[in-house]
Amino acid sequence: MSAFHTLRWIDDTLEMLDQRALPDRCDYLRFDSATAVAAAIRDLVVRGAPAIGCAAAYGIALEARRSAGLSREQFDEALERAFSIIAQSRPTAVNLAWALSQMRAGLGAAGSAGNTARAAALLETAQKIAADDVRINRALGTHGASLLPDAACVMTHCNAGALATAGHGTALGIIRSAVDAGKKIEVIANETRPFLQGARLTVWELQQDGIPVTLIADSAAGHMMGHRTVDAVIVGADRVAANGDVANKIGTYMMAVLAKRHGIPFYVACPVSTIDMNLRSGQEIPIEERSADEVAGYRDMRWAPAETRIANPVFDVTPADLVTALVTEHGVMRSPDRMTLEQLMRK
Ligand code: MRU
Repeated sequence: MSAFHTLRWIDDTLEMLDQRALPDRCDYLRFDSATAVAAAIRDLVVRGAPAIGCAAAYGIALEARRSAGLSREQFDEALERAFSIIAQSRPTAVNLAWALSQMRAGLGAAGSAGNTARAAALLETAQKIAADDVRINRALGTHGASLLPDAACVMTHCNAGALATAGHGTALGIIRSAVDAGKKIEVIANETRPFLQGARLTVWELQQDGIPVTLIADSAAGHMMGHRTVDAVIVGADRVAANGDVANKIGTYMMAVLAKRHGIPFYVACPVSTIDMNLRSGQEIPIEERSADEVAGYRDMRWAPAETRIANPVFDVTPADLVTALVTEHGVMRSPDRMTLEQLMRK
């Protein structure tokens, strides 16, 4: 287990590690409403597709808890508002919508019970989503670890670790599982401009576990692939379309093209809940556009001239044909496409 908690339910409230402050400070913030959780998702206090899903589920549970004393009608209204505000917090990671649909099912299963019982059922559902996430990550970690040679150098982009999930991580979960299995793994972490999830979060997280990591500028990735042995690139995903196209942090597509050029396997690790069979291809995946300030500078520092026209798409789509394999809790799927994904979803 990691020495930190990305999110946890404690003293009847939700506590989340403020990822904006890492690695300088390890601040835990407390949340007591869906509105506050939605703001935390939007502002990147919590980020990473599975962690966003868990936070969303806890946000609904919190709202149910604080509304339990209201009339049934007012309770239902408060929950509807909560579902709506959380659903709008971030668009790309489908885990958010998936977790909300699990919460709706949890509410439905509680049927005509009183508000207190329905609130308890929602909390139970949220806790199950978080516990399952760790279990799933461990399973996919074991499957993925089998892909890595004994002494491997793995490049990763963004942060798909314990910080992006309820624990263990997806891409970093594979690395952790390989290390647990006795393999000697070293990691190259791309810094991941503009929000620096690689430099700030992946490096910090791996250092906590004593896994050797080298930080590089994103623009050094091609050079590293050409000048030293990189055995695999492993990334997470925010949404996988029905044809196997993968949306992940901006820059992932670039890494996949480079990996292909250098004959390096490109693996995508994610739970099945990240696969969206409702979208035919990656072109239909909504790509979040965030504030220009994230590109113009960082925190209090600004380096672009005032009035600069800036674009800040924070995800991109890697076409399925660049994906060597998709690793989920059900195993390793080589060359994912519509047919194999349909089979996977029937499991
Ligand atoms: O903007 P972020 O930090 O939420 O983006 C995160 C990523 O792109 C991750 O790679 C993805 O969510 C997978 S996390 C297991």
